[in-house]
Amino acid sequence: MKTQTTPLDDAPEVLRTVKGILIETVSQVLGRTPQFNEMLCIGNYPNMSMGWHQDGERGVGPVVSSMSFGGEAVMKFCMHKKYLVGRGGKGGGYAYDTILPGCLEEEAKRALMAKLVSGEYNEKQYREQFKALMNSIKVPSNTKKPILEFPLPGTGALMIQFGPSLNKRYEHMVENKGIARLVLTCRTLE
Ligand SMILES: [Fe+2]
Repeated sequence: MKTQTTPLDDAPEVLRTVKGILIETVSQVLGRTPQFNEMLCIGNYPNMSMGWHQDGERGVGPVVSSMSFGGEAVMKFCMHKKYLVGRGGKGGGYAYDTILPGCLEEEAKRALMAKLVSGEYNEKQYREQFKALMNSIKVPSNTKKPILEFPLPGTGALMIQFGPSLNKRYEHMVENKGIARLVLTCRTLE
């Protein structure tokens, strides 16, 4: 994608105004002031969609906030395949202590965890059972199943993504409805 970059301090006043509104709103909602130092300005043609992706490249802070102008859109979240199938641990290994709502065999995994907590299983037994359970499951061919659909109702719609693991454990996509949509997204690059 061809992009054009301008230092944020030299950006048009309207962009700096939006940055100020996003900082103010995030501060009120989260009780902490984000140090946004980047703004992505992306235009979407009518009915264009942005496919499944994460905003969490290395060095991006835990708060991402955006404001939309123009058409309505729906932002959908799904679990990253690694976490859906029980992986996501170090080096792609099993994530024994990360059982996310909606992951495959969630109930069975929680039952195993309960046995670990109660002392019925020791750590080794728990890990063996966890591995066996995960090896026995049939992974669906399409793992991009939305677990949250978040409406963005046109001009002024404001979105805050917060949490260091949100853009690691989950992916999101945006479906634009009708007219063109401009999105201004503030992030913190460390
Ligand atoms: Fe995104």
